[in-house]
Amino acid sequence: MQDLAGKTAFVTGGASGIGFALGRIFTEAGMNVMLADIETDALAAAVKSLHDFGPNVRGIACDVTDPASVEHAAKASYQAFGNVHVLCNNAGVAGGSGIDNISLDNWRWVLDVNLMGVVHGIHTFLPHIRAHGEGGHIVNTASMAGMNSGLGFSPYSASKFAVVNMSEGLAMQVKPLGIGVTVLCPGYVRTRISESGRNRPERYGPARIPDPASAAGRLVAQQAELARYGLDPYDVAAQVVTAIRHDELYVFTHSRGAWRAELQERFAVILAAIDKAGPGA
Ligand SMILES: NC(=O)c1ccc[n+]([C@@H]2O[C@H](COP(=O)([O-])OP(=O)(O)OC[C@H]3O[C@@H](n4cnc5c(N)ncnc54)[C@H](O)[C@@H]3O)[C@@H](O)[C@H]2O)c1
Repeated sequence: MQDLAGKTAFVTGGASGIGFALGRIFTEAGMNVMLADIETDALAAAVKSLHDFGPNVRGIACDVTDPASVEHAAKASYQAFGNVHVLCNNAGVAGGSGIDNISLDNWRWVLDVNLMGVVHGIHTFLPHIRAHGEGGHIVNTASMAGMNSGLGFSPYSASKFAVVNMSEGLAMQVKPLGIGVTVLCPGYVRTRISESGRNRPERYGPARIPDPASAAGRLVAQQAELARYGLDPYDVAAQVVTAIRHDELYVFTHSRGAWRAELQERFAVILAAIDKAGPGA
């Protein structure tokens, strides 16, 4: 989708971090922008500050774990701006822990937001984008954690692997309809992701904070520290705009160093295992 001006973007997790930066860059591109987020105070502040970049910005309270809430937010967007063309399923939470410390509540929370949140966005908006026929683009925020297994056995990695896979499949299916798909796989970005617990609904029970002296505790602290020195979210948003304009499936924000080596190693192990297999049927 080359021409963004005058089109409408709906961005989940738009009150903070990468979602806010997407909102800003879309506003600067002359788009109408609906930010959707569970954290209503931050959402109001985000909308207010985006008015410095363009007039057509609104916010709507939305919990992406709840399909009715996403439907409600979509209707608010149609009422405000008409058709939606760019959907960013970006809301996400990190729930770090080690294998002995991941409660089932934690699995449910992270999968509900990071995976079902994306499913709910697609389920709500894809029929709408198909029906209006003006073209569209769906951006799903995954992570490098959806490409390698650096975080090990964790709800976060599981959710992000699923988002990568789902996006690849979706891209094939909607290409003939003139709809593009991008899966965003950032490395570390300077956001509030390490404070995800601020938006953990009570129904998922209390977060279990791993003992800082344990291996899991050290991993969580290391992740938070790396995020502090990560990329500026605005630079990530700029890559997403390029991907929308050129209809690119993958956006990676970190091309060199350990990320690439880890991926190469993973694929080499998988290919070696395939090569060991018999000829099959
Ligand atoms: N920051 C990083 O280093 C990094 C790296 C890879 C991927 N990501 C992904 O980027 C996306 C954005 O995260 P971020 O880093 O900007 O973090 P962030 O915490 O700054 O922003 C996440 C936003 O999602 C919102 N949110 C949380 N639960 C929600 C729910 N149930 N419904 C609606 N909104 C909800 C939060 O209120 C917040 O505004 C996430 O999917 C995250 O997994 C981040």
